[in-house]
Amino acid sequence: MGGPYRPLEAACAVADTGGAPRSPRYDDVYHSSSGAFGQAAHVFLGGNDLPTRWRGRNRYTVCETGFGLGCNFLALWRAWRCDPRRCARLHVISFELHPFSRSDLAAFLFPLLSGPTRALGDALLAAWPPLLPGLHRLEFESGAVTLTLGFGPARALARQVEASVDAFFLDGFSPRKNPEMWAPDLFGQLVRMANRGATAATWCCASSVRGALRDAGFQVAKAPGFGRKREMTVATLRPTLGHAPFTSSLAAGRVLVIGGGFAGAGVAHCLALRGIETVVIDPVFTRGPGANQHGHLAAAMTPRITRDDDRGARLARAGMRQASLRWAGLPPVARPVRCGALWLAGAESDAARHRATLGVLGFPREWVRWVERDEACDIAGMAVARGGVFLPEGRWLRPEPLLAALFGRNGVVCLPATVGRLVAVEGGWSARDENGGEIAAAPVAVLANAGRAAALLRPLSWAERAPRVMSMEEVAGQVSYFRVGSLVSAARVIVSARGRYWLPPVDGVGVAGGTYAPSGMAAVSEKGHREIAARLATLLCTDVDAVMGRLAVPAGWAGRRAVASGRLPVIGRIAGAPGLWAACGYGSRGLTWSALAGEIVAAALAGEPVPLERDLLRAVAPG
Ligand SMILES: Cc1cc2nc3c(=O)[nH]c(=O)nc-3n(C[C@H](O)[C@H](O)[C@H](O)COP(=O)(O)OP(=O)(O)OC[C@H]3O[C@@H](n4cnc5c(N)ncnc54)[C@H](O)[C@@H]3O)c2cc1C
Ligand SMILES: C[S@@+](CC[C@H](N)C(=O)[O-])C[C@H]1O[C@@H](n2cnc3c(N)ncnc32)[C@H](O)[C@@H]1O
Repeated sequence: MGGPYRPLEAACAVADTGGAPRSPRYDDVYHSSSGAFGQAAHVFLGGNDLPTRWRGRNRYTVCETGFGLGCNFLALWRAWRCDPRRCARLHVISFELHPFSRSDLAAFLFPLLSGPTRALGDALLAAWPPLLPGLHRLEFESGAVTLTLGFGPARALARQVEASVDAFFLDGFSPRKNPEMWAPDLFGQLVRMANRGATAATWCCASSVRGALRDAGFQVAKAPGFGRKREMTVATLRPTLGHAPFTSSLAAGRVLVIGGGFAGAGVAHCLALRGIETVVIDPVFTRGPGANQHGHLAAAMTPRITRDDDRGARLARAGMRQASLRWAGLPPVARPVRCGALWLAGAESDAARHRATLGVLGFPREWVRWVERDEACDIAGMAVARGGVFLPEGRWLRPEPLLAALFGRNGVVCLPATVGRLVAVEGGWSARDENGGEIAAAPVAVLANAGRAAALLRPLSWAERAPRVMSMEEVAGQVSYFRVGSLVSAARVIVSARGRYWLPPVDGVGVAGGTYAPSGMAAVSEKGHREIAARLATLLCTDVDAVMGRLAVPAGWAGRRAVASGRLPVIGRIAGAPGLWAACGYGSRGLTWSALAGEIVAAALAGEPVPLERDLLRAVAPG
């Protein structure tokens, strides 16, 4: 998120004499001694005139500066549930520098909960993310209530959030002990996010805080405080400031998606989940909705780790989070299988480097850990030559049923056709066939046709605004299939080393990959099988002929990867071209980017907080 990497430090609360949670780090209490939920109702909901202000609204967005135990969030959610005139969707964004571990959250939160709030606390706990830096998106009430939880310093995170906010809950520890949470630049960022008429409330009545709010652009007033506090602060954004009310570019229609692979499916599915119709166009649909991946037995989705937690690693984490969230409810045959991934060290020096990286990152052990050779063998279920990095979040899945499930969602129409030209028309985009006939038109179009996106963009005047689309390269390659058995052991997890990988078997056949041919055809070949078998033989500590002897029928799958600059995907609006988006350049990680890109496009079109940091949005932008 900019600046040197700093590992997260979890909350270390203690119970004060009355049993209420207290932070020794800040020497302050998490909530008023008169009650967390009373304070939430009076200060944060009452101070922002909620629930009244969300009534009649489609969506309402609240941003909180300190999540703590989530009492304010639960109080807000409860009020939303109980209000028959509630907004259709409630989005909450909250920041937390010292998140509670799941067990501490349960220990400190549950004694505060009673009645129906207890069930909400259970749901929060069940969705509680691992303590990893960055934005986490949690969903409740079938997606009608979202919580975008940022783990890290509020000042840095607020700069990273792309959202339009209606109400702010300012809830740090006391400004004397926790000045960061009341800093003018933080308030400046809140104003950047604010909608017209946005309000803010806090229990704090320090004159410095009121002054900083005023300087940032709020009109500030005092109001009666809660419990033993005589006063609190309420504020309203000055009328000249704030975003205009969100108007959907889709009022009159649907979204055109060009391309029926992982990219098109991710976008169509995320839009359909929000009730936005899509028309997806691809000639492969003549052979069915999953035809883009026909014959691809299994594919993998694994996190990345780098010593400085760079953009690629953060993006991959975000992608995996979204895919896990979005695809968890799919039919079992399409659902990712959480099996874990084991990256074997190549040599002793490699092992030392990996161990040092894990030490620097300080990620939770249940998310990533170093395992020595014996444990690696146990985890893999086969003999391996060295220890490695074990990532329990690694997943494999069947690509063809996945695509069929994503495209099978109500509201997604699949048209078998080739788009010859994309034409800007009044109010949107028209997809034309090779003869100029219209296939479909819509206010919004998404180029999800991988390396071929450039050909559709080139004739348009906006092409130069999207250099990352225009400069994509295609790399062909194959995977090979081997029957597991003697000398070709089945893996229990995804086992990989130096770019080669071996997936857990599907019906007795394991997938090994892959080859890279920058100027080659997408075709399965004997040469490709030999290349893969040679690498798999090293991984399995056996010989090439033994592996080749287990080649399955069919023996593999071939395809193309569209690779964009920086090896990062291209996801975002094409600057200057109203309603034109790109979701392409997925390289070797189509599964990782599929749901993430879908969520980015869908959140922007639906006026929701975007579940990805702004620096990462810039890194993947087409321009
Ligand atoms: C051998 C191999 C193994 C791989 N293994 C994995 C893996 O394990 N995990 C993983 O995450 N990724 C893997 N990948 C990468 C993954 O396959 C790609 O990232 C993914 O396919 C990209 O999806 P896409 O939808 O962007 O592009 P594509 O799959 O290329 O789909 C683009 C679609 O657009 C259509 N199209 C093109 N032009 C037009 C047009 N003018 N009109 C209409 N439609 C058009 C095409 O017909 C095509 O169906 C692998 C790739 C290869 C080659
Ligand atoms: C008063 S408590 C918040 C209570 C919370 N709103 C609730 O409902 O339980 C303040 C929280 O701010 C967090 N915090 C302190 N400094 C922070 C910072 N710089 N960035 C983000 N969070 C911070 C603390 O760890 C603490 O959890």
